[in-house]
Amino acid sequence: MLHHIILLSVVFVLSQGSRCRLPWTGVWLENGNELNITHNSIGNLGNCVQKSRDLYLLTSDTSRGPCYRCLITFPVHENVLHYKTTQCIFDTAMNLERCSQLMSADTSMHTLFRKEAIPVPCPIEAPMNFTYQTNQGICNSRTSHLHRCAQYDRLALHYQACPEIPNRESAIWQMECIGSWQSFGLHYFAARVGYSAGEQYRCFIHDKSGSSGRIGESADAGCQELTHIGAAATTLHYRQDSPVHSACEFPENMYGEKARNWESMLLGTYHRMYHGSWISSIKGRNDTVWTCLQQFPTDSNEHFTYRTYVTKGCKVGYQCVRLHMRKPHIVHVEYGEISPSESFADCSEFSVETRDTLILHGSKEACPIGGKHYSSLCPGPILQVGCSSKYSMNLVRDCSYPEGDELTCVANFKHEDNDFIIARDSLSRQLFCMTYVSDRINLLRVYDRVSCEEVSVNSATPYLSLNFSSSDSCSPSLLTGFLYSATSDVASPHHLMLLILTFIWNFL
Ligand SMILES: *[C@@H]1O[C@H](CO)[C@@H](O)[C@H](O)[C@H]1NC(C)=O
Ligand SMILES: *[C@@H]1O[C@H](CO)[C@@H](O)[C@H](O)[C@H]1NC(C)=O
Ligand SMILES: *[C@@H]1O[C@H](CO)[C@@H](O)[C@H](O)[C@H]1NC(C)=O
Ligand SMILES: *[C@@H]1O[C@H](CO)[C@@H](O)[C@H](O)[C@H]1NC(C)=O
Repeated sequence: MLHHIILLSVVFVLSQGSRCRLPWTGVWLENGNELNITHNSIGNLGNCVQKSRDLYLLTSDTSRGPCYRCLITFPVHENVLHYKTTQCIFDTAMNLERCSQLMSADTSMHTLFRKEAIPVPCPIEAPMNFTYQTNQGICNSRTSHLHRCAQYDRLALHYQACPEIPNRESAIWQMECIGSWQSFGLHYFAARVGYSAGEQYRCFIHDKSGSSGRIGESADAGCQELTHIGAAATTLHYRQDSPVHSACEFPENMYGEKARNWESMLLGTYHRMYHGSWISSIKGRNDTVWTCLQQFPTDSNEHFTYRTYVTKGCKVGYQCVRLHMRKPHIVHVEYGEISPSESFADCSEFSVETRDTLILHGSKEACPIGGKHYSSLCPGPILQVGCSSKYSMNLVRDCSYPEGDELTCVANFKHEDNDFIIARDSLSRQLFCMTYVSDRINLLRVYDRVSCEEVSVNSATPYLSLNFSSSDSCSPSLLTGFLYSATSDVASPHHLMLLILTFIWNFL
């Protein structure tokens, strides 16, 4: 009998626990305030005591004794939760049956957005042109524009200022959708919208008909008011615009048969080209996307000039770009300024705004200037090149740390009077550009975060300058020692034999 009671109560506790489990654990936002949901509690609304489908009975301790609250939830998306709740009820006899009677239709609805929700694709198609309407008036004398940012899930809205709404200025808003759903046959989505002053959450209602439609935005971070498009605080009347398509191809040896990754020396970003599109990304996020619009003829098959449509972050425009294939694994790039309009159509001559050098990821090349290089300031060599392998370099930045830093040679080339070496620090993985004057290797300049060519390094400050007082081959001590002994001991062939033997022995 006693056993049965224990068993029953265990079963009761278990079912009670699992029955009360709240499924949407995590940190949420309600009107910008954080609210935490755990498996059995929702913010300071209370702990769950009973549950039936989406109806919950919660309890919390107050100075007046236990407070009971009824809560009903309307999960519309993994990242969006609507709920209604009652006031505190100080009645220990509260139960779910009474809750279902208490939840009347006129109890106000609350909206929760999951904090740091991973964006989802927006249920609207970019690009589009739109006019808009706020409670201050209608702006339809100028066309506003919506387009994608380099990060595909992010949209940019360029609101034009209109004389019809005097105190409304032109503004650029970014938008990232976090969920979409349908309710009573209407299409909704929620988004994080932001501009320079910060981020907010908004609900949207979408009414599409063919290639045009309307989008209504809520006044605040709640969806409850947005029962129909007429209730929106701002309404966009849009018309679908056509996206920009590529009309030419970037050099085939930049992508070849399989995808190739190029690394920027200036920014550390990764570049990938594929036919008419070129994407630069950092930490897996697109940062710039170029679309090839027109190729201009050049007099060399190592130079390529293009006019492109560019999306840099959330900014779009037109840009001239010139590529110079220095070697199969080194490309110098010259970028013109980004122009918002298509006005300059000729890229055969353009003023260069920035330069970069792209390195084919994973490439390496044997180092030049092999040997040990000394400075008058340090007892040991400050630079050793090709001594432990033909790709290795050891650089001493500070004489008090003679063990130095290991680098791997990635590329080298001659340009005008200078020789260039590109090497990668084995520890930080950073690329460095080094230059020296070809015929006298006595001053080596090291640059970081710079395009590795004449123009860029000439206007940059070296990260390090190495002044060599003398140089030597990698293993000089043995050979010079041998020659010295041999010449000073000509008389004794015996001795010489021994020396040769030790020499061979040392080599083994
Ligand atoms: C919610 O939980 C996080 C940690 O998960 C905590 O840092 C934060 O302070 C909590 N917020 C509230 C309002 O309790
Ligand atoms: C990067 O851009 C390309 C081209 O616009 C797009 O197809 C891709 O989805 C984007 N990737 C991300 C992570 O945004
Ligand atoms: C969208 O607006 C741009 C700039 O005002 C215009 O060139 C383009 O033709 C418009 N597209 C449509 C479909 O109205
Ligand atoms: C390199 O060292 C020599 C001799 O110590 C000195 O005369 C010269 O000015 C140094 N050059 C630079 C650029 O530091």
